[in-house]
Amino acid sequence: MNQTIQDILKRRSIRAFQKRLVPEDDLSAILEAGLYAPSAVNEQPWHFTVIQNKDMLAELNVKTKDLLKKHPNPLFRNSGKDQEYNIFYHAPTVIIVSSQDDALVPQIDCAVATENMLIAAQSLGIASCWIGNVKWLFETAGDEYKTRFKLPQGYTPSHGVSLGYSAIPAVQAPPRKGNAINYIK
Ligand SMILES: Cc1cc2nc3c(=O)[nH]c(=O)nc-3n(C[C@H](O)[C@H](O)[C@H](O)COP(=O)(O)O)c2cc1C
Repeated sequence: MNQTIQDILKRRSIRAFQKRLVPEDDLSAILEAGLYAPSAVNEQPWHFTVIQNKDMLAELNVKTKDLLKKHPNPLFRNSGKDQEYNIFYHAPTVIIVSSQDDALVPQIDCAVATENMLIAAQSLGIASCWIGNVKWLFETAGDEYKTRFKLPQGYTPSHGVSLGYSAIPAVQAPPRKGNAINYIK
């Protein structure tokens, strides 16, 4: 099996991070992998904001958890109330992915770019976790963060990616569901 496929199979969502930052050149390579994702009619409708400011990360965590506490789904409500839960798992770097509002399929394109970054991180020995939960904050206070993230006009923040060095031993992949592939020859 080649290295790319091994990296895809080995990538796991990591939920505990060391404090040390990833080197700048690795971070740049991860972001570039995102920029080189395919996109519908080549719109490249993404924007990446790298946040390493501790106060900003703490604020995003607290405000998202405040919203989770009021969520109709008890699963989300409980995570909002959980004192131990940090939505970014204390990763020292978070990439916020924003999507271009008037693109054809911005959410799909941004998801593709995000996965490119997760695999690139894995290939460099860097741990990651896709953070969808921050969307609850962006859905209510998105306009404020468009300004504070200095986004170009017409982009809306969507989700995050926690990045850093894992603070836990290797995680096993959850078992794969069956019946996900068939052939018509
Ligand atoms: C759209 C999306 C949103 C996600 N949001 C979160 C999240 O907010 N917090 C979290 O811990 N994991 C989140 N994840 C990670 C999934 O829980 C994880 O990918 C899944 O459990 C499979 O585990 P694996 O990534 O180790 O294969 C998200 C993944 C996706 C694709």
